[in-house]
Amino acid sequence: DKPPILVARAIFPEIIDQLQQHFEVEHNQADELWSKQQLAAKLAGKAGAFTTGGERIDAETMANAPGLKIVANMAVGYNNFDLPAMTQRRVLGTNTPDVLTETTADFGFALLMATARRLTESEHFLRAGRWTRWSYDMFSGRDVHGATLGILGMGRIGQGIARRGAHGFGMKVIYHNRSRLAPQLEAECKARYVGKEELLKTADHLVLVLPYSAESHHVIGAAELALMKPTATLVNVARGGIVDDVALAAALREGRIAGAGLDVFEGEPQVHPDLLKVPNVVLSPHIASATVPTRMAMAQLAADNLIGFLVHGKPLTPLNPEVLN
Ligand code: GLV
Ligand code: GLV
Repeated sequence: DKPPILVARAIFPEIIDQLQQHFEVEHNQADELWSKQQLAAKLAGKAGAFTTGGERIDAETMANAPGLKIVANMAVGYNNFDLPAMTQRRVLGTNTPDVLTETTADFGFALLMATARRLTESEHFLRAGRWTRWSYDMFSGRDVHGATLGILGMGRIGQGIARRGAHGFGMKVIYHNRSRLAPQLEAECKARYVGKEELLKTADHLVLVLPYSAESHHVIGAAELALMKPTATLVNVARGGIVDDVALAAALREGRIAGAGLDVFEGEPQVHPDLLKVPNVVLSPHIASATVPTRMAMAQLAADNLIGFLVHGKPLTPLNPEVLN
């Protein structure tokens, strides 16, 4: 008998085909957004689940699923998992590291450049028919090349952004992280470790690439924004909630920083109306990993974790490997 699994959102048909070779698959092909209670009901009787980052997996949603052994998240971030609760129930969690690193770093850099050079603001101006003449200071922005790139959270994606800045754009790279990189990695990224306050005060362009947790909640709030240069820009490709969006909107409105590029938001897909009202912000709907090959690679890795674990007893990228013992 094939183990029953749940695929909680619509995903690539070819991935569903693969999963069906090994599992009895319940696929949310209609891509409905389920409440917690609906998700809990769907998990009942399942051995595994394929999630996409938005589905909360905690004691409540697992309450009716004593046979659940694995939840494979199609995302590198897994703040939708209550990992201690999963470990306690001996449910393995997996994510999709590495396959999205370079693609996400590309997008972080795209947001940085779009923000520094006021790309969307100027496009809105053009589309509105307001471009009637040249003027010496029209949409003058900030240079990227040669500027100081600050990175908060120096994981794989942070390092990818650092490499792009240092090697492609001659930027001076500084970073802050819970732990310092190994000297060889620091040299490869041409990155200098600094304290958080120095990072905030010195960066011309600050990029946030740290995971969301209780510790990183509102790591950038009014006090941190106040330390930044009025000419600086801020980019967030990590998670909503790392930045206090209301404080950020106020800083942008009052010109206390020059601009922001945001791919993630507190309470997304809702975006705080204060952010929608300020012009000097580039907004995107959580798409940093969204290229055709990378989204396929993420789905494949999540599927391979389900097959690897439930069929062969060997997951590829476990988050709580202690449940394997
Ligand atoms: C996307 O946000 C991810 O965590 O992969
Ligand atoms: C996080 O996992 C990262 O790759 O930066």
